[in-house]
Amino acid sequence: MTILHVHELSKRFHIHQIEREVAAFDWVSFTLHAGEFLLVRGPNGVGKSTLLRCLYRAYVPSAGQAMFTSTAGAIDLARAADVDIMWLRRSEIGNVSQFLRPRPRVSALDLVAEPLLLLGHDWETAQREAREWLAAFGLKPEIWSAYPATFSGGEQQKVNLARALIAPRRLLLLDEPTASLDAEARAALVERLGQLKARGVAMIGVFHHPEDVRGLIDNELYLAPPDSGSRRNGEEYANVAE
Ligand SMILES: Nc1ncnc2c1ncn2[C@@H]1O[C@H](COP(=O)(O)OP(=O)(O)OP(=O)(O)O)[C@@H](O)[C@H]1O
Ligand SMILES: [Mg+2]
Repeated sequence: MTILHVHELSKRFHIHQIEREVAAFDWVSFTLHAGEFLLVRGPNGVGKSTLLRCLYRAYVPSAGQAMFTSTAGAIDLARAADVDIMWLRRSEIGNVSQFLRPRPRVSALDLVAEPLLLLGHDWETAQREAREWLAAFGLKPEIWSAYPATFSGGEQQKVNLARALIAPRRLLLLDEPTASLDAEARAALVERLGQLKARGVAMIGVFHHPEDVRGLIDNELYLAPPDSGSRRNGEEYANVAE
């Protein structure tokens, strides 16, 4: 089943200081099926994070389509109403950025449990599952009830991952989620992603060290700099599954 069909998606920024439009990425096209893992590659500043932000609709794409197959039918992420995007973020599309946004006076456990509460699960279940996810990533139990603002970078990222992965999703967006993790937490993440993939979750990931997720990758999308002459990103879209 096709989960996402991206067609000639582009994002340009207007930079006021220089009064110019700058392309983050241009003409990106690819198709993603259930249970597939797409690795996005390319040099710094080529638009990898911007592409993920456009699919999560933190940024509005400048052109093109991103047709997502939701449980309620097909929806173009490039044009969907904000209210639909809020629903998709709650129940269908998960996003892991490199950094946690801690909230004042919300404990690590409550931050992780929150996505399940928003989906209507009872408090007991949400807390039990949250403990299970924090344990899986190796966050020491004595700080589960503390506020993550003072946690180390790696500890914050464990909370971030647990929060992003606890609720069932159709599509997961992962932007360098392993950057601040120790080897054990990286292994736990790869194992969990493998389980989600086996259940049909589609994933798009940017990894500074793709060898971390070598066993998960089905396809690669190489983004070329907009001024490199290659205007059609995604042509190198290669099946590396065999
Ligand atoms: N909000 C913004 N306003 C203006 N320009 C932006 C904005 N966000 C990103 N850009 C620009 O878009 C380009 C792509 O940035 P992006 O963060 O997507 O790159 P990346 O491929 O993820 O790089 P890295 O490998 O360093 O993480 C950069 O030139 C960046 O300066
Ligand atoms: Mg980036």
